[in-house]
Amino acid sequence: MKSPTESSTWQPGAWRHRPARQMPAYPDLAALDAACAQLRQFPPLIFSGEVQALRTQLAEVAAGRAFLLQGGDCAESFDTLDGEAARETFRVMLQMAVVLTYAAARPVVKVGRIAGQYAKPRSADTETQGGLTLPSYRGDIVNGAAFTPEARAPQPERLLRAYSASAATLNLLRALAQGGFADLHQLHGWTADFVRASPQGQRYQELADRIGETLAFMAACGFTSENTPQLREVAFYTSHEALLLPYEEALTRRDAAATPGADARWFGASAHMLWLGERTRQLDGAHIEYLRGIANPVGVKIGPSATPDDVLALLAALDPAREPGRVVLITRMGAGQLPAKLPPLLAAVKASGHAVVWSCDPMHGNTVTSAHGVKTRDFGQVVREVREFFDAHAQAGTVAGGLHVELTGQDVTECRGGGQNLTDDSLQARYTSACDPRLNGSQSLELAFLVADLLKAQRGGAMKSIAKT
Ligand code: TRP
Ligand code: MN
Repeated sequence: MKSPTESSTWQPGAWRHRPARQMPAYPDLAALDAACAQLRQFPPLIFSGEVQALRTQLAEVAAGRAFLLQGGDCAESFDTLDGEAARETFRVMLQMAVVLTYAAARPVVKVGRIAGQYAKPRSADTETQGGLTLPSYRGDIVNGAAFTPEARAPQPERLLRAYSASAATLNLLRALAQGGFADLHQLHGWTADFVRASPQGQRYQELADRIGETLAFMAACGFTSENTPQLREVAFYTSHEALLLPYEEALTRRDAAATPGADARWFGASAHMLWLGERTRQLDGAHIEYLRGIANPVGVKIGPSATPDDVLALLAALDPAREPGRVVLITRMGAGQLPAKLPPLLAAVKASGHAVVWSCDPMHGNTVTSAHGVKTRDFGQVVREVREFFDAHAQAGTVAGGLHVELTGQDVTECRGGGQNLTDDSLQARYTSACDPRLNGSQSLELAFLVADLLKAQRGGAMKSIAKT
């Protein structure tokens, strides 16, 4: 297979010649074409220079010199666009990033599952209730969740709503990242009220006090927010699952070529990073064909059934030029399964010479049904998979590069356990996820402290091995 950079034949619509899984059956194809034509007229949501900056930072992650934090809702919704949900996700990610940056003493690359996470894969095309069969709900970019024929019919006009919802969310995120909210001097203010009194809240408070002293010292030395933008601003990137290919195709743009005469590269302009789930990563499938042609960093979810050969074939398709950090392998093995399933993959990829980012998704392999029949996850199992991930990398001599979590800063009750000790009964209080259960603000912070300890232990280990040589 020729790589798209050596051949000018790849086009954003190349995927149309391949089998595409998980596509909605649009009743009105002319309306779909009209919506896509409109999207092609809209400005890109992101700029190719940002994609390049993220690529550079992920290469640092692959080399073990930075850490990737990727998090956000399982699915965003058009109904919660008042900015509160986005701000709360951003806020808790800042807190987690501070905790991790401090412990690891290396930069944390911040990527939200946000500003575009509107399409969901489904195990069945239809759903039947009381004798009525309707199309499955596939996320707000496709159809509505209500079980009525009107809501469940795929509506092309939703592609345009997804674009404007993404643009609105991204605008807020850019304002928060650059307008003062993310200033390190504000770190006390990022704690939600419900977290403040908890053990995690107190541990965060102590860390914030220590960083506050350092900032005062640095101000005395002449480094302030006014003259040091690094203290005041963060780079915050967006990502979503690249599932609905007509939407992604319509938002694919050509980079202005850096060197005159050189081929301008294609990039996906709907988000900085795109990923594929387990259900759409067939080698000869449409989704891989799309992703291989764009310059963005691309993620692929890897579950317990993936073999070393599967992973190597994916890397050959997506990273033929072996560019460090081009591919993020997001493993979701399940606690207890990981120690058997991950090591063969680590060994094979290490031997292949592809410098990937290995990121741990401790959520999707640990979904269970609560006593009341809702989807939940045990915080203890999430923690267990993260520990197993770090152990496996330590054994293999590979880099545990990142964490991929479904979270919100809000006080929801969707996952069991954690410091608040949520139980099946307490889940009913504030279960607001449209899809999978998320860690709440307190559980997210608790997980960040755990990962911080694992990263710190790694640093200690590295120091010891330096001392030994
Ligand atoms: N700009 C630096 C960074 O992104 C430092 C920083 C500023 C920061 N605000 C932050 C780090 C908030 C974490 C969270 O790493
Ligand atoms: Mn999910």
